[in-house]
Amino acid sequence: MSKYDPKHAAFLDSEERKSRLPPERLLSFLELETQDVVLDLGAGTGFLTFPIAEFVEMGKVYAVDVQKEMLDELEKKCAERGCENIDIVLSEEGDIPLKNGLFDKAFAINVLHEIEDEKTLEEIYRTMKNDAQICIVDWDKEVITERGPPTHERLTLEDAVDLLEEHGFTITDKGRLEDYYWMICKR
Ligand SMILES: C[S@@+](CC[C@H](N)C(=O)[O-])C[C@H]1O[C@@H](n2cnc3c(N)ncnc32)[C@H](O)[C@@H]1O
Repeated sequence: MSKYDPKHAAFLDSEERKSRLPPERLLSFLELETQDVVLDLGAGTGFLTFPIAEFVEMGKVYAVDVQKEMLDELEKKCAERGCENIDIVLSEEGDIPLKNGLFDKAFAINVLHEIEDEKTLEEIYRTMKNDAQICIVDWDKEVITERGPPTHERLTLEDAVDLLEEHGFTITDKGRLEDYYWMICKR
């Protein structure tokens, strides 16, 4: 597993990417409420963090990532836009430095294939409230694409379902979206 190279951070926010993975479509996977406290795991430079923050105007989004370079970019954007409900958190592989049962909702967009230590999944579970939902979207191993991580690093939808179930989650819905699979899991 390799981590996304911060040198290519600009692509994450490109129009091409937005058209393939429209942020409003991603938000619609969960029934977000305006007061929700939301985890954006592997937030990168904030592709989905900012749309979440706009939606949960009375709540908060925690942008969590293991790469400081990515979070530095996110922080710059926050300073420019004056966001008040985004907390930026540098985590470590297998360790999310936040309390138990904090999150109402969670997103992990194009992150699952980069997770090296399955303890990260235990950490997501630990930091979510009972019955909280997570939306996971990632590159589908069964689709050949010009962009994206090497096939051997990707998961199939079926492997991703097994992995999440092994860590205690219940899959409530799943499907495919262009080059990606998506899953909604309940704690
Ligand atoms: C392909 S980028 C996607 C970023 C963002 N979610 C987006 O859709 O634009 C994957 C991000 O996940 C982060 N990441 C990888 N493994 C992680 C882990 N175990 N915990 C937290 N973040 C992780 C990487 O540092 C990188 O910023």
